[in-house]
Amino acid sequence: STVEVSRQATGCPVAHGALSAERTPTGCPVSRRAADFDPFEDGYQQDPPEYVRWAREKEPIFWSPKLGYWVVTRYDDIKAIFRDNITFSPAIALEKITPTGDEANAVLASYGFALNRTLVNEDEPAHMPRRRALMDPFTPEELKHHEPMVRQLAREWVDRFIDDGRADLVDQMLWEVPLTVALHFLGVPEEDMDTLRKYSIAHTVNTWGRPKPEEQVAVAHAVGNFWQFAGKVLDKMRENPEGGGWMQYGLRKQRELPEVVTDSYLHSMMMAGIVAAHETTANATANAMKLLLQHPDVWRELCEDPSLIPNAVEECLRHNGSVAAWRRIVTADTQVGGVDLPKGSKLLIVTSSANHDQAHFADADFFDIRRDNASDHLTFGYGSHQCMGKNLARMEMQIFLEEFARRLPHMRLAEQKFSYVPNTSFRGPEHLWVEWDPARNPERARPALRHPEVPVPVRVGEPSRGAITRPVVVERITRAANGIVRLRLVAPDGRPMPRWTPGSHIDIECGHPDLSRQYSLCGDPDDSQALEVAVLHEPEGRGGSAWIHANVKAGDKLRIRGPRNHFHLDESAKRVIFIAGGIGITPLSAMARRAKALGIDYALHYSGRSRASMAMLGELAAMHGERLVVYAGDEGRRNDLAALLATAEPGTQVYACGPKRMLSALESHCAAWPDDTLHIEHFESTLRTLDPLREQAFDVELKDSGIVVNVPADQTLLSALRGANIDVQSDCEEGLCGSCEVRVLGGRIDHRDVVLTRAERDLGARMMACCSRACGGEKLVLEL
Ligand code: HEM
Ligand code: FES
Repeated sequence: STVEVSRQATGCPVAHGALSAERTPTGCPVSRRAADFDPFEDGYQQDPPEYVRWAREKEPIFWSPKLGYWVVTRYDDIKAIFRDNITFSPAIALEKITPTGDEANAVLASYGFALNRTLVNEDEPAHMPRRRALMDPFTPEELKHHEPMVRQLAREWVDRFIDDGRADLVDQMLWEVPLTVALHFLGVPEEDMDTLRKYSIAHTVNTWGRPKPEEQVAVAHAVGNFWQFAGKVLDKMRENPEGGGWMQYGLRKQRELPEVVTDSYLHSMMMAGIVAAHETTANATANAMKLLLQHPDVWRELCEDPSLIPNAVEECLRHNGSVAAWRRIVTADTQVGGVDLPKGSKLLIVTSSANHDQAHFADADFFDIRRDNASDHLTFGYGSHQCMGKNLARMEMQIFLEEFARRLPHMRLAEQKFSYVPNTSFRGPEHLWVEWDPARNPERARPALRHPEVPVPVRVGEPSRGAITRPVVVERITRAANGIVRLRLVAPDGRPMPRWTPGSHIDIECGHPDLSRQYSLCGDPDDSQALEVAVLHEPEGRGGSAWIHANVKAGDKLRIRGPRNHFHLDESAKRVIFIAGGIGITPLSAMARRAKALGIDYALHYSGRSRASMAMLGELAAMHGERLVVYAGDEGRRNDLAALLATAEPGTQVYACGPKRMLSALESHCAAWPDDTLHIEHFESTLRTLDPLREQAFDVELKDSGIVVNVPADQTLLSALRGANIDVQSDCEEGLCGSCEVRVLGGRIDHRDVVLTRAERDLGARMMACCSRACGGEKLVLEL
């Protein structure tokens, strides 16, 4: 029978609900569900984040008596664990989760098996110097050399089955190609590849699986053979260490740094490196293709617009990644999510659960290939041990998806039941059967499709938000005032539009991908069917509004990016003054609507040349009544800003959008107000281009990653970080949008963006990596 114990009674921060008879090592009661948790069960194998949903929601860290591990399920807790690799050591990352029996151990010993720590399970201070020494072959610059090899392999393997109408993508391609890529990347001679291929699978079962006692001995023999053969291959490489592989690079580094790149490391990595690069990527691609084909409308979109592939890869890694969980061991008494963990506690950190945490990913279970923070997923880990091969994996996945989308857009998932090799961490379907009608293969009609002259470029590194476009249909276009049209945009297939918050804008491509203009959303954020913008005809402008006014009709298709918000309303404000000039009313109309809904005390001051030229007057008057004050120039009324803002009122916020002249006047009128009173929508950057002759180089120390990156005078911080394989998102790259923000732990910042307020700048805790730098060439410390 079960009993209920209240939180107060146990002193534990977790409300456990129904309890089992067991207790944690710290003496707390264990809930029924925690006691039942078994990662070798089908439920976990089929869908790990779903299997621990209850925990993510109610008991984010729990003790699993069956596993003997603490299980951690939330994004913030897991990221904090990754961030601190001293308190949370990775030493057990590759430890056998099911200890082998004496017989299997004897077999392993007979082969001289001595797999030792490599990188992923190495502690400091040994790990970082080794990682630094071996990083170069993984930088985006170096990885580009492998692109033709990956493409060629992918094409050849698709050739083999493209006329069959049916294939198991795992057995017929996804298992073999990433393995071959891994062997090439490591530098294994062609003639040894087949032997290494054979042995590698046994290693996974040996480490992460639960082989039955009678299987253990056979597995041990295979692992022993793998170990010995890896040694032989390495010896061969030693004779000719000038090759282009990562192992040869390691052998050359050993001459320079023999204490850092040890023999034991090299032999172990020769074996572990294959597994690290192979199964992770094979499984990730199989998971991705399964997910995409389970959403045929998404797959169709991807085939029609391959520029979506880089972000789709990221969203697949988030939604259904190939590493479901990782491990750490606690080296000193500590707390995670408020739960006391004594030294020696073992942690199963369920990264796949973190990737479905609502607190970090909006509508987290929704599969959205345009999600703009998809690359925040933890499938590659985070911090000083973050996957070194992430950009090789991303490149492979992009190429595989692109080949499938171009050559087999008509493929669909065959009827099947998916099976997984039972283990805690590596996850992908053992088979993935797909079908198509070969008569409809696009390259039968257009043979050139097999070998396009200009392939879709691979994006090395994390995707940029700016590249994600979305097709929309103009449902309505109406005249909103003299020279102003209002557009109502809907999804082509009637699906809901993305959610947005007041102050957001979208970018509309005005007839050409290079001519894209930003327009604030002015409709109702609760209307999930449409996005609305108002566009003023600006004959002196750069051509975007003129194109819209001349060309756009109801029923037309347009491409947009966003919505994105650089102009957030502080919803905790007590009093707000909105000041709009002309077309600047668009973002403020949505904000004022929200202020009203929240019960904020607000006023909306709206000025224009004449009533006939002012959009939305009727609806604003109906909604805001006396809170709306209209200043029409031709009626002799103008907004006297000096009078309006004469006395500073602490607690009042001012939001403004309109002509430049009005905004600079506002800036001077608000000078006496508390910092952070005035919020202005910026659409144009004031940034000058980087002038290497006037800039200074500086260093940034990355606290979470344990490295120092030099930013030369002719590079931005953003590009230097990317060159060092650090993922930082970006969008505008001109200091406008805030998406490249990084947290600063120390050093003086030369802020050059228009995102941060004066007070935020003075605080010095954040900076925009695309434009801001260090003062006077000093060092900055970043939380990256
Ligand atoms: C580390 C996942 C592909 C090489 C890791 C870690 C994870 C991971 C979870 C541990 C991270 C941590 O502790 O913070 C993946 C996934 C892949 C993939 C999901 C494919 C989709 C690759 C490839 C290589 C590679 C292609 C190429 C050789 C490594 C190395 C480390 C590592 C060397 C150890 C880094 C260190 O501890 O400093 N990977 N990996 N991985 N991965 Fe990958
Ligand atoms: Fe937009 Fe840096 S990328 S502010």
